[in-house]
Order: sequence, then C-alpha cells, then structure tokens
Amino acid sequence: MAEKKNRHYLTGKEVKAIAKENNKIIRALEKKKKRKAQESEFLSELKDPANILEVEDLHSYFFTDQGVVKAVNGVSFEIPQGATVGVVGESGCGKSVTSMSIMQLLQGPYGQIFSGSIRFKSYDFKRDEKGEPIPIYETDEAGEPIMEPVLDKKGNPKLDKGGAPMTAPKQKRDQYGTRLFEMEEKVFDIAQMPVKEMHRLRGRQIAMIFQEPMTSLNPVFTIGNQLDEVTFLHFPGSTKEDAKRRSIEMLNLVGIAMPERVYKSYPHELSGGMRQRVMISMALAGDPRLIIADEPTTALDVTIQAQILDLLRDLKTRINGSILLITHDLGIIAEMADYVVVMYAGRIIEKGTASEIFHHPMHPYTIGLQKSKPTMDSDSNTLFNIPGNVPNPIDMPDYCYFRERCTGCVKACFGDYPAMVQVSPTHFVACHLYDKEKTE
Ligand SMILES: Nc1ncnc2c1ncn2[C@@H]1O[C@H](COP(=O)(O)OP(=O)(O)OP(=O)(O)O)[C@@H](O)[C@H]1O
Ligand code: SF4
Ligand SMILES: [Mg+2]
Repeated sequence: MAEKKNRHYLTGKEVKAIAKENNKIIRALEKKKKRKAQESEFLSELKDPANILEVEDLHSYFFTDQGVVKAVNGVSFEIPQGATVGVVGESGCGKSVTSMSIMQLLQGPYGQIFSGSIRFKSYDFKRDEKGEPIPIYETDEAGEPIMEPVLDKKGNPKLDKGGAPMTAPKQKRDQYGTRLFEMEEKVFDIAQMPVKEMHRLRGRQIAMIFQEPMTSLNPVFTIGNQLDEVTFLHFPGSTKEDAKRRSIEMLNLVGIAMPERVYKSYPHELSGGMRQRVMISMALAGDPRLIIADEPTTALDVTIQAQILDLLRDLKTRINGSILLITHDLGIIAEMADYVVVMYAGRIIEKGTASEIFHHPMHPYTIGLQKSKPTMDSDSNTLFNIPGNVPNPIDMPDYCYFRERCTGCVKACFGDYPAMVQVSPTHFVACHLYDKEKTE
C-alpha cells in the first residue's frame, strides 16, 4: 500500500480490483434506488420544524476506476423556511454535487448518494385509498357542492345516454385558474427515497435553475409547450387552456413583456437573459417551496445579472419559499443570502449568518476568499490569491485539507481533521485554531 501511495499511476491489476469493489457497491446502491418501498420507509422528521430542508452528514461519491471521488464528504446544513442559504467555495469543492444530490440527479450509476440524510418538508397532495389526489369542491351557503357542466376536449357540453347535459361538482381553483386539491405536510428523507418517488418533489416542490438555460431548454419545442408540460405533469386534471393560462401568468410574473409572443417562440429566438427568465418561470410553474439556483447568473452580463437577482428575491417573497443559492461570487451571496455555507474539498469548513461570515470570517480559507474579492477602493494592482492547490480528491489526507495552503498552522493541525467548533448559536467553523481543548 505504502508503495502504491508513492506511485503516480495504478497497475492494471489495481484498476481491476478497484472496478470490482466499485461494482459491488454501485449494484447495492442502484438496487436500493430502484426498490419498491412503502412511504413509511422514507418518511422522516425534522430536527427543527422551522426548517424546510436539513442535510445531515451527506456523502456523495463518484466510483471511478482510479478510486472513489468523495465529492461530498460529510456535509450538514439547514435551510430555514423562507430563508436564502448561499453556498460558496472554489471550483470543484462539491457545490453542484450537493445540489444534485438534493434532487437525486447525480449522474448514475457512477455518481451515488452513499450515505447521510436529506430531510425535506414536503407539501403534497392528500390521497384517497386508491392513491388519487382528493379535489376540493366549491360549495354553496348550505354546504352543498356547486355543480357545473362537464365539457369535452373541444369545450362542448358532454351529454349522457339520455341526451341530457352531464354535470359534476365544481372544483376550486387558485389565482392562476389551476385546480385545487387537499394538501398535507410530510417530511421525506430524499436519501432514502426510491428514484420513482422523486417525481413527487422534483420540479413540483423543489425546482432547479441551472447556469446555462440553453442546455436546459429543449430546442425543438416552443417555450409554451415546455411550460404547459410542467402544469400537465404536476396538476392533475389540467386542460390545455388551464395550462396555457398558467404558463402565460408565469411568464408575466418573471417580467416578460409580451408573454403571448414568448409562449409561441423557440428557445433560440430569445436572448440569454430572456431564456433565464423562462427557466425561472418554468421553475415557478410547479409552485415550488424550495428553489435551487446553481450559478443562475454566471452566463449573463452584469445588468441582466442584477435584474435576475432582483427577480429571484422578489419571487421568493411572493411564494414564501426558500432558496439554495450556489455561486462562487461572494458579491452575489452578500446581496442575497441570509445564511452562508463555505465548502472546501467536499466538506463544510465554515457556516453562519451572512453577517457572521462577512464581518467575522474565522477559517483561514474564508478569510482568504474575502481577501481575493476585487474591490473598487483597493490600491493594490494584484489580487490576493490563496497559494497552493486542493488535495487529490481520490486520496484525501486524514488531516485538515487546507493545511498545505494555510499560513496559520498550529501543532494540532498535524493531527486529525478538525472537528466543527460552535462559536455562536449560528456560527460554526472547522479549524483547530478555535478548538480550545487542542490549542490550550
Ligand atoms: N461525473 C463525475 N465523475 C467524476 N467526478 C466528478 C463528476 N462530477 C463531479 N465530479 C467531482 O466532484 C467534485 C465536485 O464537483 P462539483 O461539480 O460539485 O463542483 P462545484 O463546486 O460545483 O464546482 P464549480 O464551481 O466549478 O461548478 C469535483 O472534484 C469533480 O471532480
Ligand atoms: S485546522 Fe490548521 S491547517 Fe486547517 S485551516 Fe485551521 S489552522 Fe489552517
Ligand atoms: Mg458547480
């Protein structure tokens, strides 16, 4: 083993042995994802009911022939209901893998949630014994259901066998005209959910906005087609008109001036900023409670970027939702986030409120990040740069991952990986400098 560590290559035999071991683990994890499970197997409870999401000790790995890449290696954080949590850290530190794990969208079979929990407070349809959502009907003053004519696909009244117009109880609708159903709150552990069950959350309750909208929109369908699809998928019983009305409303909501025209357009006919607005409207069409925005403005110029951020902030208030905002732009985080999580090489090295992280950063890496931010009033010609590199993700050391780049090492840094130290009710840092027992 010692001999292997000193070499920079693996022998064919070693690669084979790694692949064999990987396959065994992958097969077991894939089987778990594809199993048929009772809801009770993935129901869970939140530690704090004020949260909408709790990620605890999450490990997400890529099983490559070179070894296991521990892209997310024991990450724990919470998103309080109604809050924006920003995740920062340099390229490759595991931000996207964390968000893809929450959506169960890791590139399988090699990418897998290996262990940990992702508890999400879901607000889902209440279902009858047959598993069908229970509609809410409009009632008159006496509490009797109001009846309405049943229409066919073309909008003409349907007739019964005797030729009389058919009627059915009138279903209640929301402000966008979408049919309403009885709802209930349940906490699901996404890490334990079979992939087939994820359709209950993905797109509907947790929506994702990606960096490059052109790659997320389908070039061969109109915007309207793709937006309507979200309504059809998530709101049972929606007609073509219901879907179109909702799509136009969503386009309006994200500030698109000529929604009818954009509805009929193809993605390539729109500008980058417009496409990102469409993506946001698509995310909103499912009526989500959590929006994950992974570098939502990186592909846009600065003015459009500011508009999109304003839009996100405004929508969050409107839907009373929460946002997980991933970016390496500290300026965006400062402007948007209530809480900040700082990641380094697959782990969280510091987390706290935005004010704690910006005004009292404690981890040498967070301090370095702040220093490397360009400012208008800086009189230096060069930007501060954190020297050195992140360790090899396949062969992580058992001591602090930042040690080779850190200028403030103490004796304890040559020992174990530092534990998370709590420095305020909301501020945590993983660094031996703050571990009283080790430094005293
Ligand atoms: N498909 C894959 N196969 C193997 N390793 C992967 C794969 N996808 C990601 N990784 C590894 O996982 C780690 C985390 O990647 P991730 O995409 O989460 O980084 P990030 O923090 O989002 O970076 P960026 O800021 O560049 O988007 C990286 O070290 C990367 O090499
Ligand atoms: S634990 Fe030690 S090496 Fe790691 S960041 Fe803190 S001071 Fe630096
Ligand atoms: Mg990323």
